[in-house]
Amino acid sequence: MSRPGAAQHRVARLGILLSGRGSNFLAIAKSIESGSLKGLADIAVVIANVEDAPGLAAARELGLPTALFVSKGRKRAEHDADVAACLSEHEVDLVILAGYMRLLSPEFIAAFPNRILNIHPSLLPAFTGLDAQTQAFEYGCTVAGCTVHFVDEHLDHGVIILQRAIPVLETDDAHSLAERILVEEHTAYAEAIARVVSGQYCFEGRRYLRIAEA
Ligand code: GAR
Repeated sequence: MSRPGAAQHRVARLGILLSGRGSNFLAIAKSIESGSLKGLADIAVVIANVEDAPGLAAARELGLPTALFVSKGRKRAEHDADVAACLSEHEVDLVILAGYMRLLSPEFIAAFPNRILNIHPSLLPAFTGLDAQTQAFEYGCTVAGCTVHFVDEHLDHGVIILQRAIPVLETDDAHSLAERILVEEHTAYAEAIARVVSGQYCFEGRRYLRIAEA
């Protein structure tokens, strides 16, 4: 049994990485303001890799510290080094991938051991990669969902913190299914972050186990 999550006694500083719409980021921001993350976490910086990402504009509107490092055409390791330096500058405790559609370099992952979380819109290990909701729909799954997990060096692979399952309805199409999964994502991510910042967990192999408070 290993215990990466030393109990946290201060408000955790989150570094949000996003590429697009940013609805998961906004759900996290809302739950910091008045929900399950209130008093547990703060957003230290929002970083985008796409200039016109709506999530970046939303973060600016909220008056949060933001940074843009355009990744297109850049070597992965160089781009990631800039992002890592920015996260360190902002003294980030936990890196939150919120629709960050870019693979991370091994150097970046090593710089934040067990401190990077991702949300993926499938019940992993099924349907990794892009358009996971469409993959699940077209496969004919009758259950779909989302997964929040630690990030390791393999795609959509690290230790699972929590999953949320929903039925696929006969009336669904890929779009309606994705929308209903997204509703789950918005509460699942905040809950997973709260669990991790509590520090009350350990790993048993690939299993994430919660430790009851003494
Ligand atoms: C979300 O559905 C998230 O799970 C997915 O991108 C969407 C981002 O939406 N992430 C991945 O597929 C990562 N593999 P958002 O920008 O509105 O949060």
